[in-house]
Parts: sequence; C-alpha cells; structure tokens
Amino acid sequence: MRVLVTGGAGQLAQAIRLIWAEHELVIPDESVLDLSRRESIQRVVVEVRPEVLINCAAFTQVDRCESEADLAQLINATAVGWLAEACEAVDARLVQVSTDYVFDGTGTRPYREDDPTNPVSVYGRTKLEGERQAARCPKHLIARTSWLYDAWGKNFLNTMLNAAAQGRALRVVDDQRGAPTTCRALAGQLKMAVAEAWQGLVHATCQGETTWHGFAQAIFEAKGLNVDLSPCGTADYPTPATRPAYSVLDGGRRKVLGTDRMPPWQEALAQVVTQPDLLKEA
Ligand SMILES: NC(=O)c1ccc[n+]([C@@H]2O[C@H](COP(=O)([O-])OP(=O)(O)OC[C@H]3O[C@@H](n4cnc5c(N)ncnc54)[C@H](OP(=O)(O)O)[C@@H]3O)[C@@H](O)[C@H]2O)c1
Repeated sequence: MRVLVTGGAGQLAQAIRLIWAEHELVIPDESVLDLSRRESIQRVVVEVRPEVLINCAAFTQVDRCESEADLAQLINATAVGWLAEACEAVDARLVQVSTDYVFDGTGTRPYREDDPTNPVSVYGRTKLEGERQAARCPKHLIARTSWLYDAWGKNFLNTMLNAAAQGRALRVVDDQRGAPTTCRALAGQLKMAVAEAWQGLVHATCQGETTWHGFAQAIFEAKGLNVDLSPCGTADYPTPATRPAYSVLDGGRRKVLGTDRMPPWQEALAQVVTQPDLLKEA
C-alpha cells in the first residue's frame, strides 16, 4: 500500500516510518510538502497518488499557538481542508491525528468520542477545526491522542531525562491528568485501523491515566534514576495557553471498531525504556 506521510521530521512520523515499514512510504521534507501552501499539497498528492495519507504535521507548540493564532489556524485547520480535498480527488483515505485538548478538562470521567468539545486554547480550537475539515474527506479516520512521546523527538520524556542529567531538582505539576501515549503504540494502532478500514472519529491513547508528576516519577523509576522530584500546581507555573486539567480519553469505541492495540501506559513506557531503538515491529 502506498502511504504518504506529512510532517516527516516529527516524532509520530518517525514512529510511522519504523512501524509501517512494510508499506511503500513516501515521507517528503517540509520543503517539498509544505502544509501552509495549498498548491504544494495538491501537487504532491497528485504525484504520489497515495491510498492513505497520514497527517502527522501540525503546529504543536501549544503556547506559541496563542501568539501565532493565524499560523495555527493555517496549519492545524485550513491545511487539513486542503488535504481532505486532495485525498478525495485521488480516492485516498485521510488519517488525521487530533488531540485531547479539544476538551476543556472539567470532566470527571474519561471523555467519549461523542462528548461535547470545548477547547480552551488556540491549539485545541484549531485542532478541532482540523477534525471538521478532515471529516469532509469521504474516507477519513480522525484519531485523538494525548501526551505523545517516544525515545526520540521533543517530548516530556526527553525533557525530564535532560533535566535529570543536569542534576537539577524538578517540580512537576500534579493537577493535570491524562494518558501518556507512545508514538510507536499509536503508529501500531493506526496501522491496524487502516487495515480494518476504520471510519470516523476514535480515541487512541494508551490505557490508564496519571499526572505529569506521576509520569515523571515512573520515567525515573524505569530508568533507575534518583532525582529530586516534587509535585507542584499548574497555578505555580502560569503558561500562555490553558491546559485541560483532566483530559483522559475513553477508548471504548476502538473495541467496537476492531482490534484494540493500545497498551497500558506503564507497559508502553517500559517498552520505550528497554527498547529505545524500536528495531522490532510493534
Ligand atoms: N505531542 C503531543 O503530545 C500530542 C498530543 C496529542 C495530539 N498530538 C497530535 O499528534 C500529531 C503528531 O504530533 P507530534 O508530537 O509528532 O508533533 P511534532 O513532533 O511537533 O511534529 C509535527 C511536525 O509537523 C511539522 N510541520 C509544522 N508545520 C508544517 C508545515 N507547514 N508543513 C509541513 N510540516 C509542518 C513540524 O515541523 P517543525 O518542527 O519544523 O515546525 C514537525 O516536524 C499532531 O497532529 C499533533 O497535533 C500531539
């Protein structure tokens, strides 16, 4: 199967490169496939004629999105509409990756796909609009995920490990709850979902939940590191963008649609720690 992947330099695209290796992958540089340019999208999609397009590109810097809202709208929303049009024209399936930040975080139980959205940040609002744009493609899958990380890329795991390597005392928030999700687990789930032709909206996170502080603790335990780590509140570290306090996603629809491949988050973390290079297919 020919698969076109956007955002090739990002951490999820890197996992797709490894986990979907048996497929014919086309992963152009941003200089070739630039989501900010409609003609770039149209030209590459017509040239490649993919059966599946996985949109891993996004403006993911949640705080910067607040001050660069036009760019966030262009990359996270408008461009997804262009991808949807281009995919429809070549009868491709569009896989759009979305986020737990479409919810406001006031919930008290895991959010289901049909729960009302109410994003509280520019990032969340533009990603929600991206979902709507993706749904215009007749064959589409929108997978909401959360707290993505892996052994590679810019993410919480590597931020914590770098900070620990500098011997710094760390304070990490313990009043935001979510589900840390490895890029490799999501890439494996997306591969299964495409093989089974899932359609519509699905939540795809690792199972279980924790806080950022709990996640940091688990990282240091798994790595056998003794770090001076203490909890703090979100209010202690104001950021430009508001984050949802509770953004755990219910994964029940996965079981209805087909094969659920998402592991518990602790198991997924252990895999990243013991097998950082991911030479084995997930
Ligand atoms: N990271 C998370 O915790 C998280 C949580 C929930 C959902 N998601 C979603 O999951 C998906 C993958 O995220 P990720 O963590 O892999 O993100 P990432 O590592 O930041 O990768 C995104 C990639 O998109 C690229 N990009 C930005 N603007 C572009 C453009 N105009 N044209 C082409 N590429 C462009 C970025 O390049 P530059 O770096 O050069 O800008 C980057 O390489 C995204 O849709 C994101 O919204 C992420």
